[in-house]
Amino acid sequence: MAQKQLIIGLFGFGVVGEGLYKVLQQTPSLKASIKKVCIKHPGKKRNAPVDLFTTDKDSILNDPEINVVVEVIDDSNAAFQIVSTALRNGKAVVSASKKMIAEHIQELLDLQKDTHQPFLYEAAACASIPVIRNLEEYYDNDLLHSIKAIVNGSTNFILTKMFEEKLDFKQALILAQQLGFAESNPSLDVEGYDAVNKWSFLLTHAYGAIVHPGEVVFTGIQHIQAGDAVVAREKNYQIKLVAQAQKLLNGKVAAFVLPQFVKPEDHLSFVKNEYNGVVIESGFADKQFFYGKGAGSFPTASAVLSDISALRYEYRYEYKKLYHHTPLELTADFHVKAYVSFDEWKHIPKEEFNWIEEWHAESERKYLIGVLPFSLLQQRTWWKENNVSLILAPDPIIEDVEVRQLKKKSLELAGII
Ligand code: HSE
Repeated sequence: MAQKQLIIGLFGFGVVGEGLYKVLQQTPSLKASIKKVCIKHPGKKRNAPVDLFTTDKDSILNDPEINVVVEVIDDSNAAFQIVSTALRNGKAVVSASKKMIAEHIQELLDLQKDTHQPFLYEAAACASIPVIRNLEEYYDNDLLHSIKAIVNGSTNFILTKMFEEKLDFKQALILAQQLGFAESNPSLDVEGYDAVNKWSFLLTHAYGAIVHPGEVVFTGIQHIQAGDAVVAREKNYQIKLVAQAQKLLNGKVAAFVLPQFVKPEDHLSFVKNEYNGVVIESGFADKQFFYGKGAGSFPTASAVLSDISALRYEYRYEYKKLYHHTPLELTADFHVKAYVSFDEWKHIPKEEFNWIEEWHAESERKYLIGVLPFSLLQQRTWWKENNVSLILAPDPIIEDVEVRQLKKKSLELAGII
């Protein structure tokens, strides 16, 4: 089959856009070239010929010669306008805008159906790791039991620098910004928004669930305290921001993005700095671990490049779990085991825990480890207020049917019954 010549209109020339420009120059075999780059600030000095740039988006969107629009800008509203217009104008689109995709997934699904144009966004989640295409293709028929991942490079970078190199939070964040990992508004990383955005559309590819990020229980690393790291070290755990989903016995999916204690034998404990990692557990293949750089110029550009390359053979997502299987729904009907540290008991609703396995109340900073219904995390906010820090225990999900049995065992062990 003759390779299709791809003429690209690029939106954005920041960390990713410039990375793509350089990577494409080194990949002449791809038969893809950038015709125009649309930018917001024409005054900025850039490492590319001046006549490549324009500030007029329509000169790309209405150019019949341009058959691929690549959109790597920061503003999610503008990104959605660009993507939807490009698709309607008959162009294939490649995007890295995770927030835009998460917020508009249903409209983007409809647009793909209506326009029959491919819309690819491998770079939007886990950058260099081909997680979307794997979920789409490889785990098409194999029953996906669970998926857990580190999907935000900046928070993983900050946690690594704080706990292994003793940098303070601010220094670590500044370094993440200088290296181009962090969002231009870094609270999107630190407070978990970026991770939950990525997780919501990964859930579509994993389980066919259409989920708005606002429906997923999440927080970031902003509440983690130095004392939490001390407890983690005593127990030989690391602290990671983990996005997790698991198919439960009731046929629904448990999903969240929360800090978690990670055991040394867990694959995610190998994931340091700006790297991302994904552990998939499926019926036939058992556990598989994907590992790679989750942020930064070239790792992200490599995923965009791979999508551009896939357009040559007319690849598109089929959303098989959504359209060809029975899509799964999220549920809050399960329990989680969590560590909670706090300054004052009055901020902790002890009665909401099914049982508490361990507590340390003697020092200024107190903590407990207990089991509570997940629905309470969804409904209440005490666990992210008043200097309270919640970190899930390793293997935190407890199915409702297991709760009574486990409670009895834990009370026996504690000598209470
Ligand atoms: N700020 C994001 C991160 C960039 O740190 O993961 C890659 O999506």
